Amino acid sequence: MPAKTPTTPATENPPAEAVTPLIRGVAVLRELTTAGGTMSLSALERATGLARSTVDRIAATLARMGYVRLDGRDAVLAPPVMELGNAYLAALRLPALLSARADALADELDESVSLAVADRDGIRFIHQATRRRAMSLSFRIGDLLPAERTAPGPLFATEWTDADWTHWRTRRTTDPQDRTFPAVPPAPHTTPDEDFVRRTERAGADGWSLDDQLIEPGLVAVSVPVRDPRTGRIACVANVVSHTSRHTAADLRDTLLPRLATAVAAMEEDLRQAPPPEPGPPPAGLALWTGASKQELGREFVESLARGLTVLTAFGEGRAALTLTEVARATGLARATARRALITYDHLGLVTPTSDRTFTPTPQVLSLGFPPLSRTSLPHIATPHMTALTAHLHESTSLAILTETGEEIQYTARVAARHVMSVDLGIGTRAPATRTSAGRVLLGDAGSWGGGGDMDGDGDGHGAADRDGDSVGAADRHGAGTGDRPATGAGAVAGAGPSPYALTDEELEDGLRTIAVPVRDRTGRTVAALNVATHAARRTPQECVQDILPALTATASYIETDLHVASRFTRVPLT
Ligand code: PHB
Repeated sequence: MPAKTPTTPATENPPAEAVTPLIRGVAVLRELTTAGGTMSLSALERATGLARSTVDRIAATLARMGYVRLDGRDAVLAPPVMELGNAYLAALRLPALLSARADALADELDESVSLAVADRDGIRFIHQATRRRAMSLSFRIGDLLPAERTAPGPLFATEWTDADWTHWRTRRTTDPQDRTFPAVPPAPHTTPDEDFVRRTERAGADGWSLDDQLIEPGLVAVSVPVRDPRTGRIACVANVVSHTSRHTAADLRDTLLPRLATAVAAMEEDLRQAPPPEPGPPPAGLALWTGASKQELGREFVESLARGLTVLTAFGEGRAALTLTEVARATGLARATARRALITYDHLGLVTPTSDRTFTPTPQVLSLGFPPLSRTSLPHIATPHMTALTAHLHESTSLAILTETGEEIQYTARVAARHVMSVDLGIGTRAPATRTSAGRVLLGDAGSWGGGGDMDGDGDGHGAADRDGDSVGAADRHGAGTGDRPATGAGAVAGAGPSPYALTDEELEDGLRTIAVPVRDRTGRTVAALNVATHAARRTPQECVQDILPALTATASYIETDLHVASRFTRVPLT
């Protein structure tokens, strides 16, 4: 058996009741995450030390759940896997309560601002308000950093027990170059343990902490703890991150620390005033779904893995700590099944028992796919679905947004069909909004399907266009419901009711006929339009509606489902 990669936490000596397929599935998700989201099945085989047939069955199961896409020989993480991290972040509640203040501070200072929680002897990011800058690396939500190379680390270490310090010292000896932290460059040289002990003492005395280029040359940060008003303990740490070309570490302390401290005081006040969390709906019908999938896929579907993963989705806002009975009820799983999954997760460090016979998810849940997907974009989300639509219809598919003036559309993704006469609308191309079907959808000038849809697309104004936003998410966090798709794989069905669409008939160009439908964000705002272009010689306008619209509408709903999961706690750029 090949040696284990150092990035996968040890899974030796699992308790007798642990679910082996769940341990293996988690190992596959962690390897894919470390690799940046894509790995060949043979690379997964090497990295996990599992047999090829086992990797194949795990990949098939994860694909059925919608968590990975199988692309030739590669497994690729897909947005639905973010529902695991979303469950943790919703249960934690801090992003929902604090991220608006972090974003406002980033705007005010024109510097990146992040929120991090303690994760054993590391820190893990739960929010990032990142300025686009060329100079240094920036971290993603879910990235794990060694405590001693960060500004928040010493603040968290003020609360460490003796056991925590021992654990930290052991890790420093066994991994002197930080290879178990793939998000950071290897440590160039080892620093004495004493340095961190001293920084921790200072952080305890000062109530703030600095990172003077501990991760990489040029990167500096200043941090202040946000305390839980009920316990007085550190709930998370707020950081302002800069580059020595703009601020030295001393400069950060003198000029930006006071403003960070003011923002943190406001965050603590927000926590004090926060109403009790409202429990969202638990995931529905998951046990039924896994049973049906087993029937359909047989040996290729590892039911215990699928059932085990759904256990994590039982957690959420107002559902931060659940008893075994509550987990079983929320997922529809038998108590014994839920219990074995919780025992497995406890062993893997993904849930932790709390004092009153409940379990709570840990920040490590974010290591299951979240960081690479937290940097996705709408074109990236849409392209695999558009590829499937083009393969099904043998027609070209495009995604478009409205430009700032509202007079033009811009194509942001395109999958071309192989036709002799195919329409050439490359990414970035612009076109007059009123003369394109996508433009009419984005202007809210679309008829509706099923309610006697208007073939000319000059109908009743469904779907208001968004002209000022360039990303989806964050702002709608408090607004929209928590109606995430249950983990029922790629088979999401379009919602009921008439679907708006627009059709243009040889208006932009002779022979060009296009039909478009809206793509909406979590609040129902139309943020993009998805269209299919055909040649007039191939389909009549009636045939466009009959043959293309159903598949087009279904594809838009798959894109929306992914977008809604991805944008719950991260900003998803539209381009
Ligand atoms: C970050 O948010 O990127 C960050 C925070 C604290 C550090 C370094 C980087 O010490």
